[in-house]
Amino acid sequence: MKRIKIGVLVSGWGSNLQAIIDNIEKGALSVDLAVVISDQADAYALERANKHNIPAVSIGPKKNTPREEYDAVVVAELRARQVDLVCMAGFMRIITPVLLQAYPDRVMNIHPSLLPTFPGLRVQKKALDHGVKFSGCTVHFVDEGMDTGPIIIQAVVPVLDSDTEDVLAERILKQEHTIFSRAIQLFAEGRVTVKDGRVFVQGHEGRNNDVLINP
Ligand code: GAR
Repeated sequence: MKRIKIGVLVSGWGSNLQAIIDNIEKGALSVDLAVVISDQADAYALERANKHNIPAVSIGPKKNTPREEYDAVVVAELRARQVDLVCMAGFMRIITPVLLQAYPDRVMNIHPSLLPTFPGLRVQKKALDHGVKFSGCTVHFVDEGMDTGPIIIQAVVPVLDSDTEDVLAERILKQEHTIFSRAIQLFAEGRVTVKDGRVFVQGHEGRNNDVLINP
């Protein structure tokens, strides 16, 4: 099977990018990382890419530039690197049809909640404020909304009485580092299809007795 090329979009710390890099280097993820693109010039994620000799590009949005124009520059860069799949790993911008039409059902995002609950920012605070007993993370295909689109994979973590935002965020982030690579690998194996807004994974019917209860 052809090894697909991925492009990773980042804005900051880049721990999800690091997990992807590590999984590729370990052979657990069979894709080539063609380029890392950041909208923030000082994103530590760019340094992580440099350390691993992965092409790293900073594309800063210019003042008053429409989002479509920004996305067109990103698309040009992704195409120049022959990217097949775009992975948003902490990329804090809403993307436009310019990118979505260039990569239909081929833009993935990771988000630290069990979508569709708690889209947006400070989602761990939202989870604590609502007193939910479980939270988690989601990898989904991106559409034009904020943190919306067909869900590919989710991981669930318990919310504990002693949790602070930071403690919960860390518990979730650890799972993000597993499920993003898993989603990418399933896609790379050609096992992911989208139908009527739902994602189906070939060869994985799931089990119906995996119940989680907390407390
Ligand atoms: C991650 O928790 C990711 O889920 C979140 O930003 C963080 C980036 O961390 N993304 C979103 O909230 C998207 N709406 P990282 O830079 O260490 O990978």
